[in-house]
Formats: sequence, C-alpha cells, structure tokens
Amino acid sequence: PIDMNMLSSATSSSADGLWTDLQGIDGQPCALVVEKGLLAWIGSTHAVPEQYASSKRHDGRGALVTPGLVDCHTHLVYGGQRANEFAMRLAGASYEEIARAGGGIVSSVRATREASEDELFNSASARLQQLLSEGVCAIEIKSGYGLSLEHERKQLRVARRLATAHNVTVRTTFLGAHALPPEYAGRSQAYIDLVCNEMMPALHDEGLVDAVDVFCESIAFSLAETEQVFLAAQALGIPVKLHAEQLSDMGGAALAARFGALSCDHIEHLSQDGIDAMAAAGTVAVLLPGAYYTLRDTHLPPIEALRAAGVPMAVSTDHNPGTSPALSLLLMANMACTLFRLTVPEAIAGITTHAARALGLQQTHGELAPGRPANFVLWNLKDAAEMAYWFGQKPVRCVVRHGRIEEGGV
Ligand code: NIG
Ligand code: FE
Repeated sequence: PIDMNMLSSATSSSADGLWTDLQGIDGQPCALVVEKGLLAWIGSTHAVPEQYASSKRHDGRGALVTPGLVDCHTHLVYGGQRANEFAMRLAGASYEEIARAGGGIVSSVRATREASEDELFNSASARLQQLLSEGVCAIEIKSGYGLSLEHERKQLRVARRLATAHNVTVRTTFLGAHALPPEYAGRSQAYIDLVCNEMMPALHDEGLVDAVDVFCESIAFSLAETEQVFLAAQALGIPVKLHAEQLSDMGGAALAARFGALSCDHIEHLSQDGIDAMAAAGTVAVLLPGAYYTLRDTHLPPIEALRAAGVPMAVSTDHNPGTSPALSLLLMANMACTLFRLTVPEAIAGITTHAARALGLQQTHGELAPGRPANFVLWNLKDAAEMAYWFGQKPVRCVVRHGRIEEGGV
C-alpha cells in the first residue's frame, strides 16, 4: 500500500528563485521571487531588483499566475458515500424527506463512526488530492459526521494529519451541531449541552478547533440552540461561522453577525436584515452552487443585494457526500457565474481573496504579496476569465504550496 504521508515530500522541490515571464490577472507581464519559501518580491518583468538577477530561474513561458485557490467550506472527511440518496432524489424524494427518514447526514454518521482513523485519512487524502491538483493551497475541513466526542475527534485529527501529509493549510471547523445523533432522538437540548459543555472544550484543549459552525435549519438546530453553541465558542475565544438560511429563513445570519462570524454559508433564503447585519460585521457570504445544483434548488441567493451592501462573496465546493459531491473549485466558480450571475472577477475573488477572509486567513492567503508564504498557481491559460469559463478542463501547469513545487512544473 502507498504511504500517503510520504506522497508530497517524495515528489516536491523548492520553489526558491526568480520566476520570470508570468502574466498577472490584470493581463500585465510580471515576475516574482521566492526566498526561503516566502514570496519576497512581485512586480513588473522589467523591474526585477538587481539583488535577484542571479537567483535560480524558473521560466514561466507566459503562464497566467494567480494566488493559490482557497476552498473555504468542505466536509471532506467521512466514511462511505450516498449515491443511493442521489437515486432516491431522482425518484422524487426530497433532501428533507430523506433526512427525516433516517438517511441524509445521519447515514454518513453511521459510516464515519464505523471507519478507522486511517481509513478516513486514506479516503479523504484521495479526495483532497483532486482539489490540490487544481490549485487549492488552503482548505477548510469540518467535522460533523461523528457527533460524539470520540468520533468528532477522529475526524478533526484526520484533518490535521492531511495538512502535514499534503503540505497544505487546513483550517478545522468543529460542526458538532450538524445533526441530532440517533441516540439523542427527542433530546435535542441534551445533545446541545453535550456539544457546548464537553465536546467543544475538550477538542479545543487538544488544539483541534480553529472555528465553530452550526447547521441552523428546521431539520437541524434552532436559532436558540445555535446561540447557545455560539456563546460557548465565544467563551473559549473560538471564531464562529454558520450554515445559514439554506432551506428557509431562520434569522441565523443576523445572529451569526452579532457574534462577529467569519462567514454565513449557503444563504439562499437570506433576508435584507441578515445582509445588513453581515455588512456591518464584515461577515463573508459563502456561496455554494454545488449544493444548490444538486438539490435542484430554484431559490437564488440574494446576489444583487449582497453586492449592493458590499458584503464580500466567496465561492466554495461544500464538498460532502449528500448535497455536493464536488471535487472541482473551478467548476464551482463557473457555476457561481452561470447559476448565480456572479461576474468573472467576483468568481475569481470568491475562490481566492474572499475565501481566505472567510477562514480568517486574509493575512497569509488569497493574494500575492511580499512576506506571505509562497502559494501560487501557474495556468495554461491566456486570460484570467478562462478560469471560470471552461469546465471539466484541467488547466493547471504548476502549483507552489508553502514554497514547494507540489504539482506539475514549469
Ligand atoms: O453543507 N447543510 C448541511 N450540511 C451539508 C450537507 C451535509 C450532508 O447532507 O451530508 C451542506 O450542504
Ligand atoms: Fe456544508
């Protein structure tokens, strides 16, 4: 068997040196310098500082260069798959009906509890590799298919191992309040108490929690339960985010904004009140066209109102086995344009700058600037608009993650 821990270190090389003959998103020729894994300089091809003139050269041969992509909302670690529910929906069942009948999230909980940590690591590794090969340099990974201390810990530990094994930035999110585990049927309050008083503090102590999330929805947790989880997170100093207004307007976004949430995600049914609260708090709107598409949703998120309010919009895969078994962030950018009418620059910002901000990573990821870890992608494309235009393409030439050439080459 392949030792997945060895994959990246065995094949990567240092990106240090002068990268020439590149083209920026703005269409202008540019060059950049990587020193000790950090971006040391970026600017016009004709203005390379003398001190770098004799550095090792990487000839970009005219490639478009962008910041490394950021996938800011995923449920990447889980056991099994749910193709059976796909078939059930094709036969007419709704996502809510399947969930109420004991399928949905709870069926992935059963498979995740049965899987060992190594099994979860190996299956998630293969999925992660798909995203990385397309240029992802930072990714959020949620728990939420364990729903007990032991099994949520197992998921989050796998997320941390993936970061090391693949030399990629991983932000972990504790989503203990994703669904009610079967053993707590009819005892929602008792489960939320467990999440707040035992699971969250223990996992936080173990360094496994970068953020806390809740699924606030009629088939999941109420606004009051969401607030209880946010209060517990706040007491521990952990930032929050929310699965908000996906199937109905629960008022979750306004609540999350009051807690200074990093992001509110899905938001198909977001109200103007929610938008105003998010704008005031600087909360990012995370759009998830893969789930919208899979559920054949017709209720569009309020893009025009978000734009008018100046709320930053991110775009993510929401990779999960139920509503978005998607492993291409570029396809999501395409769908955000075609389904949600984002402009191409909005879609590109959505998978870079704004996605980084949704993870609190705006100082280190999502933009090319001196002093940051070198995370960038060279594309076999002439025009940045092509990133959102093609779908099913594999346009990556080379990915530099954390100062190492991890995919392809020049
Ligand atoms: O983001 N909305 C809730 N959570 C996931 C779906 C999880 C599942 O169905 O397994 C989502 O769409
Ligand atoms: Fe999700």
